Formats: sequence, structure tokens, C-alpha cells
Amino acid sequence: MEEKFDLTGKVAVVTGAGGVLCSEMARALAAAGAKVAVLDLMEDAAKRVADEINEGGIQNAEDRRQKAEEERRDTPDRRQALEDWREGAEDRRESIDDRRRIAEDRRQTTEDKALAVKCSVLDKKQLEEARETIIGRLGRVDILINGAGGNKKEATTSDSLTFFDLPMDAIRGVLDLNIIGTILPSQVFGKAMAEQKQGVILNISSMNAFRPLTKICGYSAAKAAVSNFTQWLAVHICQNYSKDIRVNAIAPGFFLTEQNRFLLTDEKTGQLTPRGKTIIEHTPMGRFGQPNDLTGTMLWLVSDAAKFVTGIVVPVDGGFSAFSGV
Ligand SMILES: NC(=O)c1ccc[n+]([C@@H]2O[C@H](COP(=O)([O-])OP(=O)(O)OC[C@H]3O[C@@H](n4cnc5c(N)ncnc54)[C@H](O)[C@@H]3O)[C@@H](O)[C@H]2O)c1
Repeated sequence: MEEKFDLTGKVAVVTGAGGVLCSEMARALAAAGAKVAVLDLMEDAAKRVADEINEGGIQNAEDRRQKAEEERRDTPDRRQALEDWREGAEDRRESIDDRRRIAEDRRQTTEDKALAVKCSVLDKKQLEEARETIIGRLGRVDILINGAGGNKKEATTSDSLTFFDLPMDAIRGVLDLNIIGTILPSQVFGKAMAEQKQGVILNISSMNAFRPLTKICGYSAAKAAVSNFTQWLAVHICQNYSKDIRVNAIAPGFFLTEQNRFLLTDEKTGQLTPRGKTIIEHTPMGRFGQPNDLTGTMLWLVSDAAKFVTGIVVPVDGGFSAFSGV
């Protein structure tokens, strides 16, 4: 049974992996055997997570990066594999087997389990460069988790900010980060999956995708779009590219993290706000989620254990979405 969840030999890319929930997912992927590209806009956060994962390998993370860089420069066939990738699609298909062999070689020469990559999910060029770096260093991309996302205080109604005054750039920023920041990486990394005819994409939706939550109109609209896109891409990619590429989403319930702390707890006292209390009252399990509450569902969806599952959005919410309130 454990074999179905085993990710040994797989390479996973996790966007937003410097953050609270996705750093936990990155650690769980590595523990299940995958190599993990830790992508984040915040380089320090990405490095911290990658270093944590790599602990137990070669001691100094910087040494490891330099060592891998030297290997890449010094080894002509690795450089060739990277150049193959840049050439046309036909060449790329032919070079996949080469890359697999090269990755296998590299696995034996480097102990890196995780690679930190600074990258914005809103910049296609940066994403394409990240894909080249990851394929060059880790060999391929089997799994993409689109984790970068979140809400902003400036896009949230409150006693001092009405819906009519919500600044459009704040709303647009939230829409962009959550939905464009899911579509763009799916294009860039999904293309590599389409060429190798195998892969898994996991998006991160939210409770507000099923029914909107008060105050956060941009975030609700954006996550509804993420759930819709999950179903759309699952069908499109099966029909046009491969039956072995799956696309699903997790809809986390309420996890106390930086993006929602201002809504759920009082800044001064740390006590729950009325909204925080309402959430707990409407969560049959009576608590906020812990980041590792997500990892079992995540590992199921990205592994062969879910090989006939595509196009679904799984709530991980302590029962919140099942409870009518009565
Ligand atoms: N916290 C919750 O209760 C909750 C609930 C439902 C869904 N989610 C979703 O889960 C995901 C992770 O949330 P979290 O609570 O861990 O948030 P977080 O703020 O801790 O992490 C988000 C990470 O994304 C990174 N990021 C921001 N903009 C980026 C960009 N343009 N390019 C690359 N990286 C960027 C940030 O630097 C940060 O490290 C988000 O999609 C969020 O919407 C969270």
C-alpha cells in the first residue's frame, strides 16, 4: 500500500513554498521521497525551507549549490541536455530520456533534496527560467503545486473601508496572484508534463470558492476561478495531451497564517475576533487547521494512490463546508 504513496524519483515544484502551508507540503513531499523545487518570490524564505529539507545531506547549503553549479558547468553532457531543452519540441522530446539518465547520474553525485528558486508566479519569463534551472538541476518536473496565493488587507472591506471604496489595484492584485499565478505556472510547467506525457498539478483553492465569505470579494472570486480552472484544465489536458496528467485542487478550511491573522485574531490581545469565533463555531471539529492537516490529502492527490482522480476539489476543513449552521 505504501508504494502507492511513494514519490521516490519524482521531482515536485511547489510555488509559494516559502510560506506557512506550502513549506509544510514541500517538507512532506521530500519525506515521501521526492526532490523539491522550493519556489517563492521571497528568496530568503525559499532558501530557509530548502536548507531545512537538505539538512542531513552535505552540511553547508551554499557549498551544495556551488558544487552543483560547478558540476553543471564542468560536465559537457549536462550542458548539452540544457541546450537541447532550449531547442525545438522535437529535440526536447528526444532529450527527455537523456535528461532522465543525466538526472539519475546527478542523483548519485549530489545529495540535494531541495532547491530554492526565487521566482514570481506572475512573470512568465522568470517561470520559464525557473523551469530550465529545475530541469537542469533536478532532471524533470513530475508534480506542480500551485501554492502561491492569498488575500490582502487593502482588498478587504471593514468598518473603515466600504466595498465602494475598495481600491481596484488591491482587488486586481489579489485576482492576479491567485488565478493568474495558478494559470501561468500551469502553462510553463504543464508544457514540460505534456511533452513527457505524465504529470500531476495540484491547485490550492479555498472555502470561499464554494460559497463566498464576507469581506473578501476579490479573494472569493479568485479562488472560485481556481476551482473552475482546476476542472477545466483536468479535462483539457486529458483530451489533448495525455490521460496520465491529472489536475486537482485542495480547498483548505481555516488555518491561522499571516494572510488572515488580522481577520481572525485581535492584533493587540491575540484573542479571536467575532469572525474567528464564528469560524470555530461553524467548524464541527472546533479548531483551526494545522499546516500538517493538509499533507495527507496532498500526498494522496499527487501520488499514484489517486491515479484515477482528476478534476476534483477536496475540502480539508474540519467539516466547515458540510455544516449548514443549524
Ligand atoms: N491560510 C489559510 O487559512 C488558507 C486557507 C485557504 C487557502 N489558502 C491558500 O493556501 C496557499 C498558501 O497560503 P499560506 O497561508 O501558506 O500563505 P503564506 O502567505 O504563508 O504563503 C504564501 C507564499 O507565497 C509567496 N508569494 C507571494 N506572491 C508571490 C509571487 N508573485 N510569486 C511567488 N511567490 C509568491 C509569499 O512570499 C509566501 O511565501 C495560498 O494559495 C492561500 O490562498 C490559505
